Amino acid sequence: MSRTDASRHVPDMTGMDRPALARALLGWFASAGRDLPWRRTYDPYHVLVSEVMLQQTQMERVVPYFQRWVERFPDLESLSRASEDEVLRLWEGLGYYSRGRALLAAAGVLVREHGGAVPNDRDALLALPGVGPYTAGAVRSVAFNLPEPAVDANVERVLARLTNLELPARDPRAKEFLRETARGLIPEGRARDFNQALMELGALVCLPRTPRCRECPLVFFCVARSLGVAENRPLAGPPKEVVRLQMASGLLLRRGRLYIQKRRPDDVWPGLWEFPGGVLEEGESPEQALAREFREEVELNVRPLAPVVQVRYSYTRYRVTMHAFYCADTEGMAAEPRLNEAVDGRFVTPEELSGYAFPAGHRRVIAFILEDPRLAEYLARS
Ligand code: ADE
Repeated sequence: MSRTDASRHVPDMTGMDRPALARALLGWFASAGRDLPWRRTYDPYHVLVSEVMLQQTQMERVVPYFQRWVERFPDLESLSRASEDEVLRLWEGLGYYSRGRALLAAAGVLVREHGGAVPNDRDALLALPGVGPYTAGAVRSVAFNLPEPAVDANVERVLARLTNLELPARDPRAKEFLRETARGLIPEGRARDFNQALMELGALVCLPRTPRCRECPLVFFCVARSLGVAENRPLAGPPKEVVRLQMASGLLLRRGRLYIQKRRPDDVWPGLWEFPGGVLEEGESPEQALAREFREEVELNVRPLAPVVQVRYSYTRYRVTMHAFYCADTEGMAAEPRLNEAVDGRFVTPEELSGYAFPAGHRRVIAFILEDPRLAEYLARS
């Protein structure tokens, strides 16, 4: 049979000794696999929570969040009764908050439509908020031991090297090839361990920049390694555009409290709390932007008292520098803030700030002010 046009771009896997590869990988995983809380029981709810948390976050970061989560919400029933505020507060620091909200929504669906259990059916899983092909495959294989591929970035890298795939992993032809290769490698009855072993190998050995090939159980199967190009697989696609933003935000002090407001459901970081502020416009100083943002967002006239701190953080393609200021009302008898950009707003004490969920940049400002000796003085004079 002649090769089709599409297949010319992807490696031919027919010569690979799959049973030997599976034995080598499973043997390695049995001794090197990490002891993770959800690996104790493989409870499907625990697997679902861990997989959603792991979608964009490193393992070491996820474990303590996972433990807090299942302690507070031991099952789907208790999660389905949670408030969005509590879910966001527990999620704070993991980033990509839509995942936390999606788990809450998924719990509602599972309690109403699936008797409070995680189903093993692919379509039922894919119908859940926050569950795409990766997570559905991970839940089906890890929780239920069903032969379904679960290809995350770690697995993409392992398989692109193993096969010497010469397409960027983002290419749809690469995606299809990697998924089908992963499916074809799963040994009968071993999907749970095999898929996790591939992920684990990517996380611990087949590292992005400096693969530890000498420790790798698959070194003799690896085509990219044999050609000396493992470091260069998967091929990089075109670089992603990075946008730099300067932002100003203001900690308005009044009668010993600070003003915070809750972001709208249709905005970036829906439902999280923040200090008012926004992106600097062309030619504006941070102080000017701050005054303008307070007029627009809360219809108050404020003046900066002092810079607090500058924090830098990234989200999606944005690299943000945020300039935070202590500020005060310019008039003595200040009006109540209007909620032009928020759904709720209140003045809170510094101690109360820990009870609200903030985006990472704001949380770092809060960590700073709680240690800042100037805060008590400014609050006392406010
Ligand atoms: N990343 C996501 N899920 C994982 C799992 N079950 N084991 C190892 N790494 C993972």
